[in-house]
Amino acid sequence: MEIYVLRLGHRVGRDKRISTHVALTARALGAKGIYFDVYDDSVFDSVKDVVERWGGDFFIEKVEWRSFLKKFNGLKVHLTMYGLPLIEKIDEIRKADRILVVVGAEKVPPEVYEMCDSNISIGNQPHSEVAALAVFLDRVLGKTFDLKFKNAKIKVVPSERGKNVIEL
Ligand SMILES: C[S@@+](CC[C@H](N)C(=O)[O-])C[C@H]1O[C@@H](n2cnc3c(N)ncnc32)[C@H](O)[C@@H]1O
Repeated sequence: MEIYVLRLGHRVGRDKRISTHVALTARALGAKGIYFDVYDDSVFDSVKDVVERWGGDFFIEKVEWRSFLKKFNGLKVHLTMYGLPLIEKIDEIRKADRILVVVGAEKVPPEVYEMCDSNISIGNQPHSEVAALAVFLDRVLGKTFDLKFKNAKIKVVPSERGKNVIEL
């Protein structure tokens, strides 16, 4: 299964940190890449720098979101607190070969609810796109603890205390 993320509504400057965290979470939990509807060099550069040092082939790309979402070949899942609980739809979602997960920043354009195949909630309380994406990826893909990142220049050696990072 391949999962891609579409991040909508990034506000340049204001959302730099959270959008970077959305992208890094997508990468670290096994998504193939992330699409943004807005280009912000500080986010794109930070993410590319992580890929360069920590490995793997995760990509970050700018798209025109309406035509991209319309044409995406696969299951389109919008994460929203107003949607159906993930556990009710997870068996259906897991059958897909390709999934595009859509997460917002501020208010998502209403047509997104119509353009996506499913509107899915991670609980029905307001929280964060980072948390929603993390739970979705862990539940649907389930690779959080098994991923390997090819061509990494550095890696963590897990340890009980302290920080052990080695150069490869
Ligand atoms: C800070 S929220 C903004 C929500 C905004 N008030 C709205 O009505 O769309 C940013 C994003 O986090 C995600 N999100 C927040 N809470 C969620 C939940 N309980 N379930 C699924 N996604 C959630 C959604 O993708 C949302 O667009």
